[in-house]
Amino acid sequence: MTDHRADAPPCGACCDDKRRAALKLCAGAVIGLVAAPKDAAHADEAEDARPQPGDRLAVFGDEGETLHPLDVADIKAGAKPLVVYPLDPATGTLRDGSRLNRILLLRLDPASLDDHTRALAADGVVAYSAVCTHQGCDLSEYNPKEGVLFCFCHFSKFRPTRGGEVVSGPAPRSLPILPLRSDSGELVVADSFSARPGATV
Ligand code: FES
Repeated sequence: MTDHRADAPPCGACCDDKRRAALKLCAGAVIGLVAAPKDAAHADEAEDARPQPGDRLAVFGDEGETLHPLDVADIKAGAKPLVVYPLDPATGTLRDGSRLNRILLLRLDPASLDDHTRALAADGVVAYSAVCTHQGCDLSEYNPKEGVLFCFCHFSKFRPTRGGEVVSGPAPRSLPILPLRSDSGELVVADSFSARPGATV
């Protein structure tokens, strides 16, 4: 059997043209080796970065399903809050590298929002950090009767119609709100979090 590898020019081929071509191949291989970790580092940075203006929002695809950026119409009034992550529409990168990027989406009656909150909402859709400002537990529950988001760890309650202010419990500060806007019905991040998300230390 012919060994085709024996026909391929090695990096040290004696013919000048072949040698140049071979050196290019070698250089390309080296650049590839160097570039790969750099690209990986950039990808990690993009996944860890906090939500950026212009980002879309998407449900975490833990089953490998296709991620689709959410529109305002996807968020139903009265539905359980949706846990989402920011999505860079230019690269398709889901910023799920940090749990501090967990966001709760909730649709409320715009008339129930105070002026400050209404200005940061998109047709009644509000976005808050899904990480409790007390000791950093995950938030996912909304009690429509009381109109509060609440944390099961130590029962802090937050008012989503009033900028996420603390209603009761040990949380020392409001939930950071993520400003949104609607671009022809597309849900878009308008600005960065109003404050640092996460536990207060
Ligand atoms: S971590 Fe949420 S109330 Fe303590």
